[in-house]
Amino acid sequence: AEKREALRQRIKQLLIERDAVLVAHYYTDPELQALAEETGGCVSDSLEMARFGRDHPAKTLVVAGVKFMGETAKILSPEKTVLMPTLEATCSLDIGCPADEFSAFCDAHPDRTVVVYANTSAAVKARADWVVTSSIALKVVDYLDSQGEKILWAPDKHLGSYVQRETGADVLLWDGACIVHEEFKAQGILDLKKVYPDAAVLVHPESPEPVVALADMAGSTSQIIQAAKDLPNKQMIVATDQGIFYKLQQQVPDKEFIIAPTAGSGATCRSCANCPWMAMNALDNLADALENQTGEIFVDADLGKRAMQPLTRMLDFAA
Ligand code: 13P
Ligand code: SF4
Repeated sequence: AEKREALRQRIKQLLIERDAVLVAHYYTDPELQALAEETGGCVSDSLEMARFGRDHPAKTLVVAGVKFMGETAKILSPEKTVLMPTLEATCSLDIGCPADEFSAFCDAHPDRTVVVYANTSAAVKARADWVVTSSIALKVVDYLDSQGEKILWAPDKHLGSYVQRETGADVLLWDGACIVHEEFKAQGILDLKKVYPDAAVLVHPESPEPVVALADMAGSTSQIIQAAKDLPNKQMIVATDQGIFYKLQQQVPDKEFIIAPTAGSGATCRSCANCPWMAMNALDNLADALENQTGEIFVDADLGKRAMQPLTRMLDFAA
């Protein structure tokens, strides 16, 4: 415990010395989320992380999350130094959507507006007309549909089919998935509902359709936190990464949160639903990144310029 406190103090000091601010995702370790809050940084969803990083005056952004979040920060602020605790933290959606194959897919469907999820590489974003995060995907696709546009969606097929069902838009899906959310099972939630019959079910739409179908509310991490506040239920079954429990318990202390099971059984699962890449972010590699300028994110300048356009389009649309 003493060592951790020393590390925390060291990080706080380095943040000041380096004119740096810490931006953390809701899925990271609670220790990192708490530190971001204490030091004037930000803990949020992918959309807010992007906006906060772009608008903050600090010279250095330290992004605790996964690689696409660091890249997004760099694309939006090429003049800032962007550091991450580790460059190994990727995402199954990013891995499952290589830029060359994706580009060929787009070439094969030139009549479609290309909408990509933020969980992608800079090169994939550079090929897109729009970037969206889960908190704004419905609004953007609804808007494009109202303009008569047909959509090419990548990479998350579950979020894409959710958006398709909700908006009725013509959406062609890339075949990608989040390895964390794909593991939630409808039967497990039904079993859990027998134990907690009054619980509301809150689901991130990266989950498969049968799981989303059981949701009282489906939405992004920030929308899940909002729903936890708004819904009257005293208990909530939550189908998203368990890192979000830190914020849920902090913001809604009078309610009980139960992680949705990822196996078919009704037993709650304490070790599941935790993104292995998000979990790579820790106090020690964060201190190291600040101390030694390791984990710096670089994005090719030309690629960055092209990727900035659909990202800026998203932020302007959200504003
Ligand atoms: P949001 O925080 O935008 O809901 O994204 C979830 C996610 O998958 C991040 O990895
Ligand atoms: Fe990617 Fe899923 Fe991990 Fe988010 S939780 S970073 S979508 S693998």
